[in-house]
Amino acid sequence: MTETQYLYDSYQMESEATIQQISQLADGQTYLILDKTIFFAQGGGQPSDSGVITGSDGKLTVKSIEYNKGEIKHIGKLNGRLNVGNKVKLKIDWGRRYQHMIWHSAGHLLDDATLRANPKLIPVSGMHGIGRKMYIEYSGQVDNPKILIEKINTELVTLQKKLQKIVTKFVTLEELQKLSNWIPESLPKNKRLRIMQIGTGRIIPDGGTQVKSTSEIPPIEATKIELGETSFKVHYQIIGTSDETKSKEAPKTITITGKKVNLRSLKANFTSDVLKLKNNLGDLEKIQTKYLGKKGLINSLFDSLTNDEKAIQGKEINDFKRSILEKLNQRKVKIETIINREKFDATIPGILPPLGHLHLVTQAIREISAIFTLIGFIRRRYPEVDTDWYAAAGLNIPPDHPARDDQETFYVSENVVLTPHTSNGQLHEMELMKRPPIKMINIGKTYRRQIDISHTPMFHQFEGLLIDKGINITHLIGVGNYFVQNYFGPDRRIRLRPHHFQFTEPSFEIDITCGVCRGVGCRLCKAGWLELGGAGMVHPTVLKNGGINPDKYSGFAFGWGVERVLAMKYDLPDIRNIYTTDLRILNQF
Ligand code: PHE
Repeated sequence: MTETQYLYDSYQMESEATIQQISQLADGQTYLILDKTIFFAQGGGQPSDSGVITGSDGKLTVKSIEYNKGEIKHIGKLNGRLNVGNKVKLKIDWGRRYQHMIWHSAGHLLDDATLRANPKLIPVSGMHGIGRKMYIEYSGQVDNPKILIEKINTELVTLQKKLQKIVTKFVTLEELQKLSNWIPESLPKNKRLRIMQIGTGRIIPDGGTQVKSTSEIPPIEATKIELGETSFKVHYQIIGTSDETKSKEAPKTITITGKKVNLRSLKANFTSDVLKLKNNLGDLEKIQTKYLGKKGLINSLFDSLTNDEKAIQGKEINDFKRSILEKLNQRKVKIETIINREKFDATIPGILPPLGHLHLVTQAIREISAIFTLIGFIRRRYPEVDTDWYAAAGLNIPPDHPARDDQETFYVSENVVLTPHTSNGQLHEMELMKRPPIKMINIGKTYRRQIDISHTPMFHQFEGLLIDKGINITHLIGVGNYFVQNYFGPDRRIRLRPHHFQFTEPSFEIDITCGVCRGVGCRLCKAGWLELGGAGMVHPTVLKNGGINPDKYSGFAFGWGVERVLAMKYDLPDIRNIYTTDLRILNQF
């Protein structure tokens, strides 16, 4: 007895077993009997499996399976040696099995539809070989085959709209008698029987393989009823593939270069031509000419038809023609992409992705710090959130002094501010350096509650501080001119206008000659001069606050706006534009 594993799991493709018998057949083939098997032997209309059985020294290519009194013979060609007792590996041809499973289950689905169309009909056999006829045979006679077919197909449509599980299980004969009103005579009485059921459909004793769900079955239809003497067969097919449901006319056959062809064979030939096609445009064109050329197969076929035949077959031929074109064009696109890929020249220089650049404020800061570091100023950064001492009190601005209002300061807390100027760096620098010489250029962010065409609430200042013995206003003028000539151009110079700051004495407003009129006077400037920013000689109190003796040392300081010099250099009409994210503006710098 061979244990039939496929009855428990129709999806098992590989297994192991032990050889129990090995015999030679008259035709040179060998058969094996195993203790258990996943190979299905023909039965219930389902063809048997093929596959391979492999041992350590040999292999049987299984062509067919025979069931004989509880024993299953695996028949095929043996290569090498296999012996009784050998452990072997079994592998079924899954593609073939799965197709058979589908068509077998499809037959049962058809039976369910027939049962619904006429509950009295009793099935006696079935045939589900693909490529061969597929049908279920019923006992008795049918009054009106046409109506039955229509009814069955209506039921099939309903059945196939819902997904149903296909269940197999084992029951005793008594159990089966309760479940089913139809028990085939041939069933063994003494062992458990396998049954199958689709959803809530008919319970059928069944020893074949089954798919798990109707979702695996393509849409089918009953195509014809074949009448016998005591029974009749309901044939079925995938919808649209049956010749019976199409034109009743036999397809026109013509002879081309000695071969008989018709539309069906043309379709098959075309499919195989396309399958054989390599990635070669010339070959593709040959196929196109062969079928669609002026003297191609389609035209020859068409020309050979009578007008009546054209009326019947014309549409199908035209559809075929269209599908040829469609398929060839799709293939052409694929071939062309492959060819273009092959043409790819790795030596062609790549395309540089667009590069960004530094923001214009960053550019200006770097330029300014480079100009000052060239003459010995050290670039510094001091806190941008600082205490009142560094930002005001230490700079000689008393708590209720009106200068504090000028600066529109943002307070973080009572004693902490967002620095309204970079002058807070002066005392930090003195504390850091302890004693002169001090030559600092402090560039950082500053904040004031102000926004208009020439102000943004956040902006940058560059604060110069030079302290040493004997520093006077001429040094301030010299450094100022040096800066404007290097930043704006060699013909520019500065002038000093008296002003007032709490932390410098004397204090000045620094102007620079207008770049447009060169100091003569124009629309843009005040009589030839543009305002640069504040400066002055460091107030003795500030020096003292920084721990420097004002009797020994003196110094100058200035604090100018980065955005201001940028706007002056490029004649920017509105300083706020600097902080837009508009690339049309930013890309110009
Ligand atoms: N801190 C002053 C301002 O922000 C500029 C300044 C700096 C003036 C240093 C004198 C000396 O306007």
